[in-house]
Amino acid sequence: MANPPTCRGASSFFGGLESPGEYGRSMMANRPATDYPLGSADDEHERLIRQAARLESCTQRFFRAAGIADGQRVLDIGSGVGDVAMLVARMVGPSGQVVGVERDSRSLARAKARVTEARLDNVISKRMWARSKATSSSMLL
Ligand SMILES: C[S@@+](CC[C@H](N)C(=O)[O-])C[C@H]1O[C@@H](n2cnc3c(N)ncnc32)[C@H](O)[C@@H]1O
Repeated sequence: MANPPTCRGASSFFGGLESPGEYGRSMMANRPATDYPLGSADDEHERLIRQAARLESCTQRFFRAAGIADGQRVLDIGSGVGDVAMLVARMVGPSGQVVGVERDSRSLARAKARVTEARLDNVISKRMWARSKATSSSMLL
């Protein structure tokens, strides 16, 4: 990567072509409606992977500031294809654990394959639809 990812770069990243808003509109125009607006097609998976790579250092700094550290057990709700779960798994180390929950079976399968390929034994990926009693919506974005 020519420019190392920084938090500063994040705003231009989201302001550019990769913007989930712009991308989401084009995705929605071409696909049947699902509960999750950006869907789970291969191109959305690839976008998530690129996004995670570009924002990795920023995300890691955010999690460190939030107190994520060695040995902790972390729940990742809406773990998609697993990038945040894998980043956090490296942060909490072998004595910690990440439980990634994802309701979409295609995304979950991709996450499991990537976790295995990365040899991260401290990630558990489960199919689950998280719901909140506090809101009428069951969608957690
Ligand atoms: C932005 S994407 C994934 C981001 C992911 N954390 C990453 O590391 O790239 C959000 C994901 O949340 C999932 N999702 C949305 N609402 C959910 C719910 N109520 N329960 C479980 N998963 C949910 C979607 O299927 C989608 O895969």
